Amino acid sequence: MTMRSLLLGSLALASVSAVDISVASSGGNTTSKIPFGLMHEDINNAGDGGIYAELIRNRAFQGSSRYPVSTSHWTPINGAALSIAKLSTPLSQALPSNLHVTPGNSSNSSSGTIGFANDGFWGFDVRKQEYKGSFYVFGAYEGKFTASLQSALTNETFGSVDIPSESSNSEWIQHNFTLVPTKDAPNSNNTFALTFSSSGLTSTALDFNLISLFPPTYKNRTNGLRPDIAEALVGLNPKFLRFPGGNALEGPDLKNPWRWNETIGPLKDRPGRPGTWGYQTSDGLGLVEYFEWCDDMELEPILAIHSGLALDGAYISELALTPWIQDALNELEFVLGPATTPYGRLRASLGHPTPWALKYVEIGNEDWLAGAPSAYDAYRNYRFPLFRSAIEAAYPDIQIIASPSVFDNMTIPVGVVGDYHPYREPDAFYNEFGKFDNLTTENLTLVGEFASVHTNGGAGWDADLHPFPWWIGSIGEAIFMIATTRASPTIIGATYAPILRNMNRWQWSSCILEFSASKTTLSTSWYVFNLIARTDITATLPTTPSGNTSSLFFVAGETADGARVFKAANYNTTDSVDTPVRVGFEGVEGGRKGTLTVLTGKEGPWGFNDPAVGNNVVVERVTDLVAGEGGVFEWVMPELSVAELVVGGEGKRRRRGVGYDAYSRICA
Ligand SMILES: *[C@@H]1O[C@H](CO)[C@@H](O)[C@H](O)[C@H]1NC(C)=O
Ligand SMILES: *[C@@H]1O[C@H](CO)[C@@H](O)[C@H](O)[C@H]1NC(C)=O
Ligand SMILES: *[C@@H]1O[C@H](CO)[C@@H](O)[C@H](O)[C@H]1NC(C)=O
Ligand SMILES: *[C@@H]1O[C@H](CO)[C@@H](O)[C@H](O)[C@H]1NC(C)=O
Ligand SMILES: *[C@@H]1O[C@H](CO)[C@@H](O)[C@H](O)[C@H]1NC(C)=O
Ligand SMILES: *[C@@H]1O[C@H](CO)[C@@H](O)[C@H](O)[C@H]1NC(C)=O
Ligand SMILES: *[C@@H]1O[C@H](CO)[C@@H](O)[C@H](O)[C@H]1NC(C)=O
Ligand SMILES: *[C@@H]1O[C@H](CO)[C@@H](O)[C@H](O)[C@H]1NC(C)=O
Ligand SMILES: *[C@@H]1O[C@H](CO)[C@@H](O)[C@H](O)[C@H]1NC(C)=O
Ligand SMILES: *[C@@H]1O[C@H](CO)[C@@H](O)[C@H](O)[C@H]1NC(C)=O
Ligand SMILES: *[C@@H]1O[C@H](CO)[C@@H](O)[C@H](O)[C@H]1NC(C)=O
Ligand SMILES: *[C@@H]1O[C@H](CO)[C@@H](O)[C@H](O)[C@H]1NC(C)=O
Repeated sequence: MTMRSLLLGSLALASVSAVDISVASSGGNTTSKIPFGLMHEDINNAGDGGIYAELIRNRAFQGSSRYPVSTSHWTPINGAALSIAKLSTPLSQALPSNLHVTPGNSSNSSSGTIGFANDGFWGFDVRKQEYKGSFYVFGAYEGKFTASLQSALTNETFGSVDIPSESSNSEWIQHNFTLVPTKDAPNSNNTFALTFSSSGLTSTALDFNLISLFPPTYKNRTNGLRPDIAEALVGLNPKFLRFPGGNALEGPDLKNPWRWNETIGPLKDRPGRPGTWGYQTSDGLGLVEYFEWCDDMELEPILAIHSGLALDGAYISELALTPWIQDALNELEFVLGPATTPYGRLRASLGHPTPWALKYVEIGNEDWLAGAPSAYDAYRNYRFPLFRSAIEAAYPDIQIIASPSVFDNMTIPVGVVGDYHPYREPDAFYNEFGKFDNLTTENLTLVGEFASVHTNGGAGWDADLHPFPWWIGSIGEAIFMIATTRASPTIIGATYAPILRNMNRWQWSSCILEFSASKTTLSTSWYVFNLIARTDITATLPTTPSGNTSSLFFVAGETADGARVFKAANYNTTDSVDTPVRVGFEGVEGGRKGTLTVLTGKEGPWGFNDPAVGNNVVVERVTDLVAGEGGVFEWVMPELSVAELVVGGEGKRRRRGVGYDAYSRICA
């Protein structure tokens, strides 16, 4: 008896809502090696004050006409007078402004100790760990500086360190220090203070700049990533990183694009810029740091280059495009060129003699949107073709990605990958499961951004974004991820976006992680992404379903180590009844064991994980299943649930993210 007839035989005994699925042992498609990944840009203070681990806010008095230079986030200690100065000897061309400190009214202070404090990015996470700090000072001072972390509520000092002055009244001198608090602070309402004795001053003032403090970073990388956020991202099992945007790449106007060459090198040489999302960025998380992020998480970089379009809709004419194309080629030489080339030499001088293995370059971001229709016509008519031909001529192995997709009214040339950004209602992901059915490998597509952001049946794009990822929204995303897996390798990869939201300042609410100074919260979508991306399918396997499949979406496949995998999401069922599922794999005998993981939402469709509460509405249940006669595994999928069944293999696939379980700061 064939497995199929066994399955059909058992169907007769089952309830009408049951689904039987037989999985063939071959005949599917080899899938993409980068099925799921990450997308990052500085939105929601996701970079500065987010994954970029720098703790000092306004550390280098950067500014622009949009966001003027100021002493914001700095307060005087003991009557010191703080102002912004521009010295005739600036720290650097990039950082012309600095903090000018005079004793002010401090003559009343008996100790003569004066200084200034920083309030951080909505506080400081203070723990018994090593903080590495530095600052530049200009002016004559004999004595010591004291750096400390203290409570903003009680003034209790958690740790401090004395730094002997090496300062001079003729040049900027950098001072480095290590600060190890002797106790953990009970909350994040803390400040960083830098003080000195006014009696040791032989200049009338001291000038300070680039005042920096880093906690331990992910993989101990200098100028690196905040570890709890990084570990939570590793928990998504990503394979690629798309950067540096997003609208952040385009910049607010053509005068302020994301300039790769101004995000590299020593921090004192980075001017920062007016970001797209309402704040000046430091660009401490720059081009090199993005590649180091890829190195440290073993991610395939997808580098987006500026395509001559700004977010205000202004774009570069065909005649003026040449320098912009040259700038992109310079950037690619910096990334890919041997150390004998000018920009390759620059990279080598920054500690990276070996070029990065960049394979994917995206030309622009959402060029169908800002300034359409004329800016989009410009993209289709000359911006895309000219950037493409120049890059392909110099780097024939690069896979070019166009920022629109086949769904955005652009003919994507064969061999080019399009980029599709569905921000949808969960019902749309349900209705469009077959969206990719007619695409072939001549229609390669990246899903460079996706998320459920609007409620079903609402005002659509005009409605507010949902305040958090929510359970039915996350189920919609699971259905979508299953659709992209089935369409792999045509869909080369997919990533949720935006991924990070600082709960103290944000403009986009549906993000896969929320955080504050001392806490990271995993959303319902994090749990779904974590499960769907957990096991890498290297080839899909054909499935033959029978029964009522109207709510159940699934994909089957095999892994590199020979396991059989089945991933499924169940949407609304008739009368909300459970869906019995029976899955048989050709070649798998009765008695074989499988591991089933099922996610359900204990608060129904509207449940969400609230950082203010620290709750978790997602329940994960892991069960050992044994195949019955004919190798059929049976279980029940509740309405709005996600499941993964793994049979065989060496058990090496279950990666939750290195260190994930050990990292106590991650809540929910
Ligand atoms: C110093 O004394 C003056 C005059 O009494 C007073 O106005 C000022 O607030 C004092 N400053 C500090 C820092 O105590
Ligand atoms: C110094 O004291 C004077 C008089 O009280 C006051 O007007 C001035 O603002 C004070 N300066 C600082 C820097 O506190
Ligand atoms: C903390 O120090 C500041 C400045 O010296 C002072 O104004 C404040 O009263 C102190 N707060 C407490 C709770 O001691
Ligand atoms: C401080 O640290 C930086 C970066 O590690 C280093 O380049 C510099 O030489 C150090 N400065 C001093 C005075 O030790
Ligand atoms: C402490 O900081 C948190 C978040 O940064 C803030 O919500 C809270 O109001 C602060 N508490 C006090 C007592 O200031
Ligand atoms: C990072 O540095 C800390 C402290 O120096 C050390 O204990 C830890 O092992 C290092 N971790 C890695 C991944 O190198
Ligand atoms: C970076 O490149 C742009 C475009 O080529 C150029 O205008 C700018 O001056 C460069 N910045 C620096 C610091 O060299
Ligand atoms: C698609 O783009 C062409 C220009 O290339 C334009 O003429 C046409 O109106 C567009 N169609 C839609 C449906 O937007
Ligand atoms: C695929 O093509 C068929 C036949 O032309 C058409 O009926 C169907 O609507 C198409 N599906 C999608 C998702 O475009
Ligand atoms: C897929 O690519 C083929 C070949 O270029 C093209 O004819 C077809 O229109 C593309 N499909 C879509 C949906 O754009
Ligand atoms: C599924 O149920 C939700 C309510 O939980 C509803 O908003 C949505 O429209 C339903 N979708 C479908 C396709 O039945
Ligand atoms: C393999 O890809 C083709 C073309 O996209 C598709 O029709 C077919 O369903 C895929 N097979 C499996 C098992 O995913």
